[in-house]
Amino acid sequence: MKAVILIGGPHIGTRFRPLSFEVPKPLFPVAGCPMIQHHIEACLKFPSIKEILIIGFYQRSREMTRFLSELQRKHNITIRYLQEHCPLGTGGGLYHFRDQILSGGVSSFFVFNSDVCCDFPVKEMYAFHKETKGCVILGTKANESQSVHYGCIVEDPKTHKVLHYVEKPETFVSDLINAGAYLFTQDIFQLLGDAFQCNYNEMNGTHDSCDAIDLERTVLKKLAAGGKLYLFMNTGFWSQFKTAGNAIYANKLYLSLYRKADHFLERLASSNDDIESPVIIGDVRIHSTAVVHPTAVLGPNVSVGPGVTIGAGARIKEAIILDRAEIKEHSCILHSIVGWECELGAWSRVEGYPSDPNPNDPFGNVPKESLFNEDGRLNPSITILGQGVRIDSEVMILNSIVLPHKDIGSSYRNQIIM
Ligand code: GDD
Repeated sequence: MKAVILIGGPHIGTRFRPLSFEVPKPLFPVAGCPMIQHHIEACLKFPSIKEILIIGFYQRSREMTRFLSELQRKHNITIRYLQEHCPLGTGGGLYHFRDQILSGGVSSFFVFNSDVCCDFPVKEMYAFHKETKGCVILGTKANESQSVHYGCIVEDPKTHKVLHYVEKPETFVSDLINAGAYLFTQDIFQLLGDAFQCNYNEMNGTHDSCDAIDLERTVLKKLAAGGKLYLFMNTGFWSQFKTAGNAIYANKLYLSLYRKADHFLERLASSNDDIESPVIIGDVRIHSTAVVHPTAVLGPNVSVGPGVTIGAGARIKEAIILDRAEIKEHSCILHSIVGWECELGAWSRVEGYPSDPNPNDPFGNVPKESLFNEDGRLNPSITILGQGVRIDSEVMILNSIVLPHKDIGSSYRNQIIM
């Protein structure tokens, strides 16, 4: 069996700036590893999956190549990156690379959107597929006003057969939404082929874009109409990962997942009695090469990357600290992402504010919303420091985005610092 992960490409990363300047969004580290590694690890839990195909139109970057070869080595599984010649949409890449997907006698395969975070229930979806003999779509619940931003599903509650599928409807259809994970049978290639032919005829085969196919509006809609699609409800966490602001929330969700699986406190688990550990509150992941002063207080929901140093009395909460950042003594970082190789002076303060506090969250105040409004204007709820930013001692950066390699000598609030 195989799994496909759809990763899109650079132009989709605009809402992820300035972090997407340095790393393709699917490789952005969340809870200590690149975002799509969480998808890959979910696949590894289901040994029938022997090969993972990553489809997108990012250039074959150094990061991508290194990431894939390290994972292959570590897990002894084939992972291949198949690069589209232009954006082929959510269905065009599947059709274009159909031979690679079906090779080896594959009759069914998983497809995952890379920009969702979830403890993908692959085993359960497979069992459900065996029972129904149909294709399976993973669903989750959204609140009524939000559901129109997703694919909406109407099911038969007894059989879970999808009766009706509408992608991003204009008015409310259902609060059951498409969570961006599927198990398809090879039958979908007939539907993708029809969609391709239809595009081709419309454009007389004159343009590359005739290869682009919308999986949701063609395949899912038709599978539902033909009674061949079944809804499997996700019972665990689920969230989208569209903006840098979403990264803090995704970090929290995955940290909590790995705490339950009990394999994430690398640094603390391996610390010996000679090394004093910092004060840890809730879920915190510290890379084994990071050096954290024992009087620093970290958590909840903090990931600290390789080679980071954190000085005495620092306080870090709801944050991602990327590789080799240097956090001097008594700095305070809340609801923020600190980019690679940043330097924060003593007593500096980097803070975003949670504009969507969640009263049901025991730690409260996790920002969920986008950094940019639908019209592209700044709507920050976290602070982001791009790579190599240097903040002077005692400076405060509140609710702002700082572009890479800036030297900041005075305080800012609600700004994009270019
Ligand atoms: N390979 C490839 N090529 N991947 C693509 C392309 C493309 O041209 N365009 C988008 N993708 C990938 C994205 O990287 C993402 O992982 C996934 O396909 C879906 O991306 P979007 O096209 O941005 O769709 P969406 O997120 O607005 O909506 C989709 O996901 C929702 C769940 O998060 C739909 O499937 C909705 O129905 C669903 O509810």
